Amino acid sequence: MTKGRLPAATVSFVSQKGGVGKSALARLFAVGAAHRGKRVLLADFDLEQLTCVEWNAARLRAAIEPDIDARAFKSLKKLRHAEVNVDFIVADTRGLADDLTKELAEESDVVFLPTGTSYDDLRPTLALAHRLAKRGAEGRIVMVLSKVGRSDSQAARAVETIAEAGFELLGEHWPLRDGFQADLDAGRAGRETRYPQLREIAEKMENALFKRAEAAKPRASAAAA
Ligand SMILES: Nc1ncnc2c1ncn2[C@@H]1O[C@H](COP(=O)(O)OP(=O)(O)OP(=O)(O)O)[C@@H](O)[C@H]1O
Ligand SMILES: [Mg+2]
Repeated sequence: MTKGRLPAATVSFVSQKGGVGKSALARLFAVGAAHRGKRVLLADFDLEQLTCVEWNAARLRAAIEPDIDARAFKSLKKLRHAEVNVDFIVADTRGLADDLTKELAEESDVVFLPTGTSYDDLRPTLALAHRLAKRGAEGRIVMVLSKVGRSDSQAARAVETIAEAGFELLGEHWPLRDGFQADLDAGRAGRETRYPQLREIAEKMENALFKRAEAAKPRASAAAA
């Protein structure tokens, strides 16, 4: 499948395991984009859970600004044909990697793979990364250590394992904090946190994700030209 068919720079969050933080980071990215004055579409491909769509409904009820355009999509084809005039498409996917995950990864400018730090989490994530790389996503796959606990040595071991496997790892890790969960439940994400001690963590993560997405953008523009 050729690249450049999607109408904007596309940032995807995929995983092999469920509950690793895809939807949390997708929302953090979308909120960051909106606050930065970028036009963004949060594309929710998880039709069973509709996490981002439901979160956006809570956001609207709570009158949280800026508005986020969060919509459910059944397929990549539907997204390609949608009337989309944005700077970023942020794609959130189902827990279990499926054909759509692979198709989306092929067409995305950057594919973030959030993962826990344990071998139980890393093994299937690295296996998925290898599969996606084989399918043409090589160089666009970025692992993200997510929901990281307080143990520095556990995180350091995970960093080493990913480096040994030869995959890129985002410099910032996404730490496990109850406040982030409460924020999401209230229709907020990332920098919108109501907990001052979490604000810097959220901003660092947002900056790291954006820096990586911006680095991928010239490819998108070249493909579209
Ligand atoms: N940094 C964090 N600290 C604490 N809780 C978090 C954090 N990030 C996400 N969560 C919570 O963990 C749970 C799973 O996160 P999330 O929904 O983002 O994962 P997911 O990979 O999208 O899951 P699924 O595979 O089911 O779609 C949610 O309850 C979410 O609120
Ligand atoms: Mg999810």
